[in-house]
Amino acid sequence: MSEQNEKELEKSEILGKVLFSGSDIIKRVSELGREITGNYKGKDLLMVSILRGGVIFLSDLIKEIDLPLSIDFMSISSYGINGASTGVVRITKDLDESIEGKDVLIVEDIIDTGLTISYLLRNLRSRFPKSLEICTLLDRDIRRISDISIKYIGFKIGESYIVGYGLDYKQRFRNLKSIYELKPDMVTKDIESLKSSSSI
Ligand code: PRP
Repeated sequence: MSEQNEKELEKSEILGKVLFSGSDIIKRVSELGREITGNYKGKDLLMVSILRGGVIFLSDLIKEIDLPLSIDFMSISSYGINGASTGVVRITKDLDESIEGKDVLIVEDIIDTGLTISYLLRNLRSRFPKSLEICTLLDRDIRRISDISIKYIGFKIGESYIVGYGLDYKQRFRNLKSIYELKPDMVTKDIESLKSSSSI
């Protein structure tokens, strides 16, 4: 989205403050790319992204990795309660290639409770990759339920609802260059309306 249109949205009732600007993100993604390049020299690197939010991060990250690599995608549907995942996950699109013997790096936009990634780790481990690591742009560990170890983290974040750079609110805002907090009023109103509609 253009800078001008992002600024207009900032003035609206929807977007709150910028948490990470487009340039903060570009800088961090390039640092992560350099770190990954250093650690995967001579390996058979396969980067696996989880649709949909992780794709924006993946597409910027791979351009910063100075090594041969391949990419593959999975789509999952997780059963949530009031927007929070429960860890009950169903694969709706599986990987196209085998990961056996490969150095697999899962690329996520955000890890929150950790339930989704725990399921994926269990599932992918059973396919005998040579190594399996996680790279997430955002790590919200205050709501973590599963004990997981994340090798590459872009930024740590707190409780707020966020959108942009792949993260959506009702499927919108994924194309913003920066990551924004959603205005709390907006979220509260929505949660209230969800509660009243589900009690009918
Ligand atoms: C996000 C993110 C992770 C999951 C993390 O996906 O991409 O897959 O939530 O949450 P957890 O750690 O609490 O399990 P989301 O369900 O928002 O789908 P999307 O990528 O299509 O937006």
